[in-house]
Amino acid sequence: MSEQLTIALSKGRIYKETLPLLKHAGIEPLDDPETSRKLILDTNHDDIKLVIIRATDVPTYVQYGAADIGVAGKDVLMEHGGEGLYEPLDLKIAQCKMMIAGPEGATVPEGRLRICTKYVNVARRYFAEQGKQVEIIKLYGSMELGPIVGLSDFIVDLVDTGNTLKANGLAPLEHMAEISSRLIVNKASMKMKHARVKALIDRIGEAVN
Ligand code: ATP
Ligand code: PRP
Ligand code: MG
Repeated sequence: MSEQLTIALSKGRIYKETLPLLKHAGIEPLDDPETSRKLILDTNHDDIKLVIIRATDVPTYVQYGAADIGVAGKDVLMEHGGEGLYEPLDLKIAQCKMMIAGPEGATVPEGRLRICTKYVNVARRYFAEQGKQVEIIKLYGSMELGPIVGLSDFIVDLVDTGNTLKANGLAPLEHMAEISSRLIVNKASMKMKHARVKALIDRIGEAVN
C-alpha cells in the first residue's frame, strides 16, 4: 500500500485560494466543501486526502500529525505558537494586516486599556513588549462591536480593505503584522515522508512564483 498524505485546509478563502496551487501540483479534490457535508475529501490521487476543518484548528492537526501538511494564516500561526511545525512556504494568499483599531479620533484613555480580540496571545505579547498595561478580552468574532458597546477601548483584528472597520465607525490605528497564508508541515512527516513532501513543496512553490 502506498504511503498516505493528508492535507488540512479550511473552507472559504483559504480553500478557494489554495485550489489553484494544488492543481499546479496535480492534486484535484473530487468534492466541493462548500456544497458537500464531507469533512474528508478524496482527490484524484488514491493516497492523498484533504481534511476540511476550522482555520484555527489547522496548526493543531498538523502539529499532532493528524494531517501531514496544512495551509494556515500567519495570524493563526502566531497565535498557535508554531510548535511541532515547519513553515517552508509563504503562499502569498489571503493577504491582510493585523492591526490595532478603535473609534475614529479616539484619544487613549488613562490607565489600563481594554482590548477585544481573538488573538489573545499575540495581543498580550505585543502590548507587553511595549510596556503597556492591558486587559485582554477574548472574543470569537465581530470584534468591531467591542468599542461600540463599551466592552473595550480598542480591538486587535485583521484589516484588508478597511470596509468592516469603516462600516462600524472604527479606524485602523497601528500596524502590527503583515499576514498571508503559509504552507505548514508536520516535523515527523517531513522526515518520514520526505521525498513526497519535498516534491509537493517544490511544485506548490513553483505555482506561487
Ligand atoms: P471561522 O470562519 O472559522 O471563524 P476565520 O474567520 O478565521 O474562521 P477565514 O475568514 O476563512 O476564517 O480566514 C482564514 C484566514 O484568512 C485568516 O486566518 C487570515 O489569515 C486570512 N484572512 C482573514 N480575513 C481576511 C481578509 N479580510 N482578507 C484577506 N485575508 C483574510
Ligand atoms: C475578516 C476580518 C475582518 C474583515 C476585514 O472577516 O475578521 O472583520 O475580514 O476585511 P476588510 O478590511 O476588507 O473589511 P471575514 O470576512 O473573514 O468574516 P468573518 O467575521 O466571518 O471571519
Ligand atoms: Mg474570517
